[in-house]
Amino acid sequence: MPLTLWQHCTLATLQAQSTEPYGLVEDGALVVEGEHLRWVGRLADLPAELRQQCQQTNDAGGALITPGLIDCHTHLVYGGNRAAEFEQRLGGASYEDIARQGGGIASTVKNTRAASADELLQQSLPRLQQLMAEGVTTVEIKSGYGLAMAHERKCLQVARTLGQTQALDVCTTFLGAHALPPEFAGRSDDYVDEVLHMLTDLHAEGLVDAVDAFCERIAFSPAQTARVLAAAQALGLPVKLHAEQLSDSGGAALAASFGALSCDHLEWLSEDGAAAMAAAGTVAVLLPGAFYFLRETKLPPIEMLRRHGLSIAISTDCNPGSSPCTSLLLMLNMACTLFRLTPEEALAGVTRHAAQALGFKDRGVLAAGRRADFVLWNVQHPAQLAYALGANPHLQTIYKGQAR
Ligand code: NIG
Ligand code: FE
Repeated sequence: MPLTLWQHCTLATLQAQSTEPYGLVEDGALVVEGEHLRWVGRLADLPAELRQQCQQTNDAGGALITPGLIDCHTHLVYGGNRAAEFEQRLGGASYEDIARQGGGIASTVKNTRAASADELLQQSLPRLQQLMAEGVTTVEIKSGYGLAMAHERKCLQVARTLGQTQALDVCTTFLGAHALPPEFAGRSDDYVDEVLHMLTDLHAEGLVDAVDAFCERIAFSPAQTARVLAAAQALGLPVKLHAEQLSDSGGAALAASFGALSCDHLEWLSEDGAAAMAAAGTVAVLLPGAFYFLRETKLPPIEMLRRHGLSIAISTDCNPGSSPCTSLLLMLNMACTLFRLTPEEALAGVTRHAAQALGFKDRGVLAAGRRADFVLWNVQHPAQLAYALGANPHLQTIYKGQAR
């Protein structure tokens, strides 16, 4: 297979074992072989024999190169928008009030059900392209605005179509247990039965890569959540959980007991929850866009996460209600300014740790053998990626070894 050399660049490899912050390598070089990285390091250390085998040499023009960005928690396939609720909330109504009055997720469910697959695709594609314009090469997309077999299927199929037609990897997560649909009002246990039924069928159709649920007083109880996670486990599917976003319901410890890949939100996480996550190797996914947009004041317990040695990932949570956001770079800034993460932690949160939150071992760092997914940036230092608000210093994305 032909080899391609990239030179004249600084590398932020994000390798965990590096002694340099960000795994920085000055005067770096990458050798790409097909879809993978063959060699990563200082140009001066590139073995002459390997250099001779490179049929093509690309000058990166002094760019900073990072791994391709990974957005590990989105709900980006949905119909309509919730700008009217944004106005209501600014007038004093709370997110929970609106949900209880039949708005919130339920209003997006109405619009999502009314949309055809093609309409959903047309509405979702610009959001995906905005993420891609900032160097996203892997994205997770959840269902959860259909809440009935045909509509959950439609949303997952749209996510699959996006992955097949765009130059990035899409992982799908079944979030049937996102909210109670109106036709099941007062019968939430019956709806959980239906969620299990949908999961079995949609999994058999190859539409499900992982399973999530919303464990919260306005959504599903820990006992109901446990049924969903147990069903996923029985099918051999990895699980994740929206946990402790608005209250501490013990969801994080519950998900950890199922070996969850990640628990997400976590503003109300308890010490026991953090300990359980650490023991299970569960990633803490923080969603500063939702914190900001809902004007929350309860910060996720960052020091506690650090003390337990948890991997911290950062994501957009792209969704119409709590985080209508399609900028992972903006999330880097908010993770630092709002949550006090360091820019290095934030960047690891959208690369190495985001890969871990999706169960990928082949990406998220620049290292030999990993996927050749990387981004060239017009910055001198990686902290600049978290520092600037609203800038997009993206120059070029390489996905599976190819310019996108
Ligand atoms: O991650 N917390 C639950 N789900 C989404 C919000 C969904 C919505 O409001 O439409 C979230 O914040
Ligand atoms: Fe979410």
